[in-house]
Amino acid sequence: MRVGGKSFRSANWFVDAGDSTPAVQWIDQRLLPHRFEQRISRKPEDVALAIESMQVRGAPAIGGAAAYGLALAYLTDKNRFFTHWLPRFRATRPTAVNLFHACDAIQALAEQGVTDADMQAAAQSYSDTEVAANACMGEHLAERLAVGERRILTHCNAGWLAAVDWGTATSGIYKLAHAGESPFVWVDETRPRLQGARLTAWELGQEGVKHCIQADSAAAWMMSQGKVDAIVTGADRIAANGDVANKIGTYMLSLAAREHGIPFYVAAPSSTFDANCATGAAIPVEERDADEVLMMDGVDEAGDSHLIRIASPNSSAGNPAFDVTPYANITAIISEQGVWARNPNT
Ligand code: MRU
Repeated sequence: MRVGGKSFRSANWFVDAGDSTPAVQWIDQRLLPHRFEQRISRKPEDVALAIESMQVRGAPAIGGAAAYGLALAYLTDKNRFFTHWLPRFRATRPTAVNLFHACDAIQALAEQGVTDADMQAAAQSYSDTEVAANACMGEHLAERLAVGERRILTHCNAGWLAAVDWGTATSGIYKLAHAGESPFVWVDETRPRLQGARLTAWELGQEGVKHCIQADSAAAWMMSQGKVDAIVTGADRIAANGDVANKIGTYMLSLAAREHGIPFYVAAPSSTFDANCATGAAIPVEERDADEVLMMDGVDEAGDSHLIRIASPNSSAGNPAFDVTPYANITAIISEQGVWARNPNT
């Protein structure tokens, strides 16, 4: 999607005519919306660190970056591919199953001993497949959203930054916008890391989509006031029974949506489905550093970054990064393969 009118993906190969080994290029999402910077590296460890430190985040983007990073490891350090690099990438984050889907795909090719050129092409193909899935699910989602006033509420960043391109939750919104419609988006700020306020709002602005950031705690009230027509989120892992792990706060939204009879859609590519988890109870939920809750960073009027403490130094904090929404609270799950609706009339 566009930044300053120019197209970007959140992770990609960077091919330099002067060097036969490609580099991995990604957008450092930690700096947005204040600075747009891309990182380029030929070191697989830098790619693993980028995932771990959330320079690259969002389930499909984590999978895409891991595919590039592991392919780079195959090209540059074959001897340690199985013993070091596979476990290294698998350990970067626990919840988004796309990471493991990508590791499995690249591992299978490494076991076949494919050529370096084929491995490089396979990583590209992995990302291209994800992007095509997002674009296709966007068509399905746009049909669902093309009702009423299209005031859509979304949580976290399930946009193109999180999904290489198009986004999952945002794919249908961008499809509507590109078709000349005027979707409006309520953007939950998404404490504690504020992926909504920092990333989703920025993305939507770059694409000219009207939006308004709100505190997470405003969501149920706005639903009760008749100001939300539909809710769309992405997913980090979908269990076999349809339970969905997504950014913390999603479960709470689903309860409010159910109470107010508002459709609650989850958009995710096939790589987010995990048949090995029978129910949501089997999905591992990442617990992150308490400082994400206790501290806050941002820029002052001069554009200088600051990290400040917002809670008493004596207070501790819990920080589960995801929650699980039961399938019973979800109106439909939408992927590139189609729509799973509990009630086909909803
Ligand atoms: O911790 P994050 O920022 O990686 O969490 C991201 C989310 O929870 C997204 O909603 C999810 O990955 C769907 S993204 C297309």
